[in-house]
Amino acid sequence: MGEPNLSTEVTEKLPSSNPTAKAFTLTSALWFAAATSFGMIGAGYLIAPDFLANIEYIHFGRVRPMHINAVLFGFVTPGLLAAAFYYFPRLLRTELFSHKLGVFSAIFWNITVAAGMIGISLGYTQGREYAELPWPVDIMVVISFSLVVLNILLTIRKREERVLYVSIWYTTAAIILTSVTYCLGNVIWKPDTGALVGIPDAILLWFYGHNIFGLLLTPMGLGVAYYVLPIATRSPLWSHSLSLIGFWSLIIVYTHIGTHHLLQVPVPTWLKTISIVDSVAMVIPVMIVLINLWYTIKGKLGEIHADIGAKFVLTGTIYYFFVNIQGSMMALPHVQRITHFNNWVVGHAHIGVLGFAGIMALGGLYFILPRITGKPLYSKFLADVQYWLVLIGVTGFAVVLTIVGLIQGNSWYNGEALYRTLPMIQPYYILRASLGAFIMLGAYIGLYNIIRSLYFNRGAAT
Ligand code: HEM
Ligand code: HEM
Repeated sequence: MGEPNLSTEVTEKLPSSNPTAKAFTLTSALWFAAATSFGMIGAGYLIAPDFLANIEYIHFGRVRPMHINAVLFGFVTPGLLAAAFYYFPRLLRTELFSHKLGVFSAIFWNITVAAGMIGISLGYTQGREYAELPWPVDIMVVISFSLVVLNILLTIRKREERVLYVSIWYTTAAIILTSVTYCLGNVIWKPDTGALVGIPDAILLWFYGHNIFGLLLTPMGLGVAYYVLPIATRSPLWSHSLSLIGFWSLIIVYTHIGTHHLLQVPVPTWLKTISIVDSVAMVIPVMIVLINLWYTIKGKLGEIHADIGAKFVLTGTIYYFFVNIQGSMMALPHVQRITHFNNWVVGHAHIGVLGFAGIMALGGLYFILPRITGKPLYSKFLADVQYWLVLIGVTGFAVVLTIVGLIQGNSWYNGEALYRTLPMIQPYYILRASLGAFIMLGAYIGLYNIIRSLYFNRGAAT
């Protein structure tokens, strides 16, 4: 069985213009700026609860889900999709099935996310975490995913490369599975509530909720890493067989762990046990991927350093390592007695969704930008500045939120009254907002650099 030709030659065979990848790149950059602005407003409320108190459209209860939905569906997923729309034609040696469909899906995607933001800000929410979007927007999300599924499946059908490289497996699985789990998790057949009743609802919600991280962001992030790192270092993948073992073990293990969000809830013990065992077993698919990628780039750190896209991606793999080791620990009931219901989990969420998946998305964007425009980046310097701002911000978040989580967890475990913990954590909230300013600044610098690179770049053609 032949192996796909993962070398730079492949990229030269097809025209560089890729309007679909460009449209999703711009989408991601725009929503990154919007999402971090919502995050900053939320962080402001946690320092001073009457900050902007009279503006109901952006009070904490609304701006928090706006922030989360904007990062998940506005910034990270479209960023990873932009890279996928670039590497699908390359890896399959064919043009994308339809760029008209691709650009239309990007426009529809933006309308969907904007409708979700407006809906939540006007107070229309179904109130379940990661499933807050109102029912009509849920339908639009499913249509958005279906348009992408259609385009990539039809591209796969007309491919000239027989062997499917692992990035194709990961991304195709992610988009198809999310189209289904989104419907299940949002209980889409009940438009009035978008929910079941009682414990079964919690189980279903977290089956879906964890699949957003485990079966959407993770496989799509890994798809980007498996594409970018071998090409940037001009090295063949260390092991194609291992890459597929990693894929299937992720699909088998990650689908069962949602109940680790409910260890403090009266769900059946057998479900909790499965979720704990599989959470610990996650170390298998994770280490398989990391060993494969890190061996691929062994001795080639110079090449990584020279390519800002690859630099983001390598950083994303390091965060992938940390978030998973941390996650496996957090699924142990004794650890969770301290870490649950407090900022430890918010720290983990930022390490995973920003440190791993978001940084991977930025890496994909910067890797493809010169290739889809046919010109060097507008400013490599600004991209480097953004790299450091985001890296300092997210690393700071990880440290600060973990400390706050330990203070809260230990206080509550020892019977301390909640209100007495508030003065203790106030300084950390101020630090968090300051670090958030780094990330937000990085997002706006990135937006400027990406718009200049896409549309107003007089750089010499490469
Ligand atoms: C080995 C892999 C992982 C394991 C075992 C794991 C485990 C966990 C556990 C046990 C929780 C619940 C904590 C609690 O409520 O007390 C959690 C929450 C969370 N995880 Fe992970 N995690 C893993 C990887 C990831 C990755 C890769 C991402 C992001 C792409 C991620 C994103 C999140 C988020 C956003 C939450 C917060 C959910 C909420 O709002 O309550 N996790 N994780
Ligand atoms: C300006 C930078 C940012 C700031 C100030 C910020 C702030 C916040 C705040 C205040 C919350 C609510 C926490 C709570 O309820 O206690 C939150 C939640 C969250 N943020 Fe951010 N954030 C920022 C950037 C990001 C980025 C870029 C991502 C992802 C790419 C992200 C992903 C998340 C997630 C997944 C949650 C849910 C956490 C959970 O439920 O456990 N944030 N953020």
